[in-house]
Amino acid sequence: MKFISLKRFCIFIVIILILFYYFRFNLFNSKVHEDEEEEETTNNIINEYSITLGNSNLNRNDVTVAVVACGDRLHETLTMIKSAIMFSNVKLSFIVVTEEHLIQNFNEKLSEWKVIINFSFKVIPLTFPTEGAKEWQKLFKPCASQRLFLPSVLKDIDSILYVDTDVLFLTPVEDVWKYFTNMNSSQMAALAPEHEDPNAGWYNRFAKHPYYGKLGVNSGVMLMNLTKMRDFLWVEYVIPVYKRYKLKITWGDQDIINIIFHYHPDKLYVYSCRYNFRPDHCMYMSVCKSAEKEGVAVLHGSRGFFHSGKQPVFQSIYRAFEEFQIGMDIYHDFYQSLETYLELTSETNCGHIKDMYLKNLKQYVTNDKR
Ligand SMILES: *[C@@H]1O[C@H](CO)[C@@H](O)[C@H](O)[C@H]1NC(C)=O
Ligand SMILES: *[C@@H]1O[C@H](CO)[C@@H](O)[C@H](O)[C@H]1NC(C)=O
Ligand SMILES: *[C@@H]1O[C@H](CO)[C@@H](O)[C@H](O)[C@H]1NC(C)=O
Repeated sequence: MKFISLKRFCIFIVIILILFYYFRFNLFNSKVHEDEEEEETTNNIINEYSITLGNSNLNRNDVTVAVVACGDRLHETLTMIKSAIMFSNVKLSFIVVTEEHLIQNFNEKLSEWKVIINFSFKVIPLTFPTEGAKEWQKLFKPCASQRLFLPSVLKDIDSILYVDTDVLFLTPVEDVWKYFTNMNSSQMAALAPEHEDPNAGWYNRFAKHPYYGKLGVNSGVMLMNLTKMRDFLWVEYVIPVYKRYKLKITWGDQDIINIIFHYHPDKLYVYSCRYNFRPDHCMYMSVCKSAEKEGVAVLHGSRGFFHSGKQPVFQSIYRAFEEFQIGMDIYHDFYQSLETYLELTSETNCGHIKDMYLKNLKQYVTNDKR
């Protein structure tokens, strides 16, 4: 008798559980729909201008590099893209966001390279929320603030490696991309510190606004999990931050990124300076220890250093990439000239540790004779 009632009781519990999960699931689904509708109405300005990349060639497992290029940055951007396709061994996709009049130039050159090396690309026009578009475009060097809107502009893309136009890859792109797997569930982006040394730091000495950590972060090489950033409502968060701090910011979008991660440090993964190696790391003394040890992975010629003679190493490396044409021999037509150019800079502050720049390249040039 007792036994039967226990059995009935169990059945009863099972039915209750089934009903519970059934309703929970339904409620959850309808909640998602409500949220979507709400988002559509509050955010329709941006949505209206979003660009559907469709399910073209870009998919989840690709390494996707995104760049925003305006003004006179066409050539520099193409050189960055060239450095990425020269050494990568994965399926690469590029997203170039640019001004209308540059779209054709990008399409022509990239199509030409694509015949030789397989990768995919999309060139799309700048897209700003209609409200305040002028103000945003002025915020920093032409159109850099576009990057802050990428989570809504690239609404079908899960993740990107965003880079400034003045960046060169001295290692395969996938070496940076792999940091996505190091991120924990709360981290939605990865960046390198702005400085290594508090005595030379900019944010700790001059900033009039909050910034990330002790010395701030540099935004030139940024892994962005756009899915997580959309869940965080990043774009909605950026606008009030900008309005509140616009009179206090100096470095435009980078300052906004610093302010946001100041308030949400758990959402940022910080990788070492070798993934965003700038003139500041060597112009007085060598301060990026990880680059000395493992080689520079990503070179960032910030403040025009690729085009000025202020630290000849930066100009020389840029020149070697610029002169190389896709389809030529990487060892003879790139690596050997690079070695020669670097030899000439060995007396300079940034040039005396030459091996720092060659360390990773050397490995790929000898392994892969593309
Ligand atoms: C390029 O890669 C894609 C996807 O892997 C493949 O479908 C296509 O056939 C490749 N094209 C060439 C020319 O190899
Ligand atoms: C980005 O985050 C989403 C949601 O957590 C996850 O599903 C996706 O795998 C992440 N993407 C990468 C490249 O790690
Ligand atoms: C992710 O890592 C950061 C930095 O170590 C930490 O602050 C945060 O709490 C971690 N998040 C989770 C969910 O473990």
